Amino acid sequence: MKVASFFAGVGGIDLAFEQAGFNVVWANEIDENASRTYRANFHSELLTEDIHRVEAASIPDFDVMVGGFPCQAFSVAGYRKGFEDDRGNLFFELERIFKKRKPEIIFLENVKNLTSHDHGNTFRVILKHLKEAGYHVKEKVLNACDYGNLPQNRERIYIVAFRSRAVCKEFEFPEPVELTSKLADFIDFETEQDSRLYYTAEKCPFYRELEKCIKSEDTLYQWRRVYVRENKNNMCPTLTANMGTGGHNVPLVKTKFGIRKLSPRECFNLMGYPADYCLPDMAFSHLYKQAGNSVVIPVIRRIAEEILRAVHRVQKSKLGASSSSPCNSSRKSSKTGNVPLSA
Ligand SMILES: C[S@@+](CC[C@H](N)C(=O)[O-])C[C@H]1O[C@@H](n2cnc3c(N)ncnc32)[C@H](O)[C@@H]1O
Repeated sequence: MKVASFFAGVGGIDLAFEQAGFNVVWANEIDENASRTYRANFHSELLTEDIHRVEAASIPDFDVMVGGFPCQAFSVAGYRKGFEDDRGNLFFELERIFKKRKPEIIFLENVKNLTSHDHGNTFRVILKHLKEAGYHVKEKVLNACDYGNLPQNRERIYIVAFRSRAVCKEFEFPEPVELTSKLADFIDFETEQDSRLYYTAEKCPFYRELEKCIKSEDTLYQWRRVYVRENKNNMCPTLTANMGTGGHNVPLVKTKFGIRKLSPRECFNLMGYPADYCLPDMAFSHLYKQAGNSVVIPVIRRIAEEILRAVHRVQKSKLGASSSSPCNSSRKSSKTGNVPLSA
């Protein structure tokens, strides 16, 4: 199935859908730096442009719309602000496009807070608009550490909308999986890293405090303005888009080479990106933002696999039904596998 990706960032959702067997044909993203990283890793067409300027008719054929629309507006109290904030109304840009192009499936990802913003009204509006456009919707909050076998505490809402009631009925979110991976699978404790990552007494006014509190090698720490916060053993706190900026620090780790920030590569590792995913040469701050803005790949890959399973089950049952009737006019298309789903 062909995928069009919106708010593509560095392509986390795209990668997960490709891993599951989908084909990403087109993507849109406004940010130049994220686009650079995207282009270094994907061959599909990427349009670097504000979504407001994207003509629905100009997008090549697609069956699936995916998008993790920006979430900042939903962490601000007040329903009006959520949707009236320039960053909050972007769901309606997706709506403009899905109403015109009617993809079979829409996959949306956002912060868990979207479900409780304005006492649930914001979320209700989103679901209502999807349903009014003819979609059948399932949604669930999943934590990466429970569903992705990845030690990051990252709760996100996943919304999957189907034009076909039958496919929606078949679709189930994946089951939890045991967390067997360790921080050491994602963080390089054994190799000395770029000197910019290390805290030293010369560079850092709160170094003594760090030294006093940061003791364990299987824990991640965070500097919170005046104190060190220790996270649960073998668990990474939610990586955020603003880490590395304005007092929001990148998680810290202790290795035999000293106390340091996670590297951009380690942040991408903790989002489930493969080792061969290319990080272009650019300021660390851009890469931290791109990783924190992105998604946990294995969680979305598992959802995408379930979507495909549901589609195949419905196609198979339609094939069965059509081949048992010798006069059925959809027989020919069934043989090619192009069974229409939206019935
Ligand atoms: C939450 S991030 C999604 C990241 C993506 N899922 C990934 O895996 O990297 C939202 C993205 O929307 C982009 N964005 C914000 N406003 C936009 C607009 N008006 N048009 C297109 N993209 C926009 C941001 O630059 C950001 O990369």
